[in-house]
Amino acid sequence: MRFLVPTSGFIPSAAVASREIVTHSSDETIERGREIGTSLEPPVLILLSGELGVGKTTLTKGIVSGLGAAREEDVTSPTFTLVHKYQGRARVYHVDLYRISGFHDLETLGLEDLFSEDAVVIVEWPDRLTLRTDWPILRIGLEHVSEDARRIRLETVASG
Ligand SMILES: Nc1ncnc2c1ncn2[C@@H]1O[C@H](COP(=O)(O)OP(=O)(O)OP(=O)(O)O)[C@@H](O)[C@H]1O
Ligand SMILES: [Mg+2]
Repeated sequence: MRFLVPTSGFIPSAAVASREIVTHSSDETIERGREIGTSLEPPVLILLSGELGVGKTTLTKGIVSGLGAAREEDVTSPTFTLVHKYQGRARVYHVDLYRISGFHDLETLGLEDLFSEDAVVIVEWPDRLTLRTDWPILRIGLEHVSEDARRIRLETVASG
């Protein structure tokens, strides 16, 4: 069954698991991301939320590296290009919608191919996008705790 993914706010009743970690440096966030990436089985959609500069791209460096798709230093923010693509044991798309204004869907962004085959799709600023997918979703929310500490909440949502 396909369903509309609420990319902000509403949490579907299909939510199956959540956990929370606190990191104390960007290196620790990358390491946690690597652990997440190692454990991922495509297809999966990762929605990364949190304010400017909280560490979404930093966590993505670890996730992409854990998937064996690129070295962490080669993962940079796709702010201007909208999407970066990496290929390892999984195909990985890293999307940053920060510069997008208003609401869009994949077609108006030219991103309709993202879900055409199994991949890991990582989206920063996902509240700017409305999309339909039957892929499993991992929601990750980051918050500042102090200058170098971040709270990272992970919530797995089973697909319909
Ligand atoms: N514990 C931490 N985890 C992650 N980043 C940290 C941490 N402590 C400090 N930082 C710093 O915070 C910044 C995070 O930047 P990053 O680009 O990852 O944020 P972002 O959420 O992707 O921002 P944007 O919304 O602009 O895309 C980096 O400069 C990083 O070094
Ligand atoms: Mg970023």
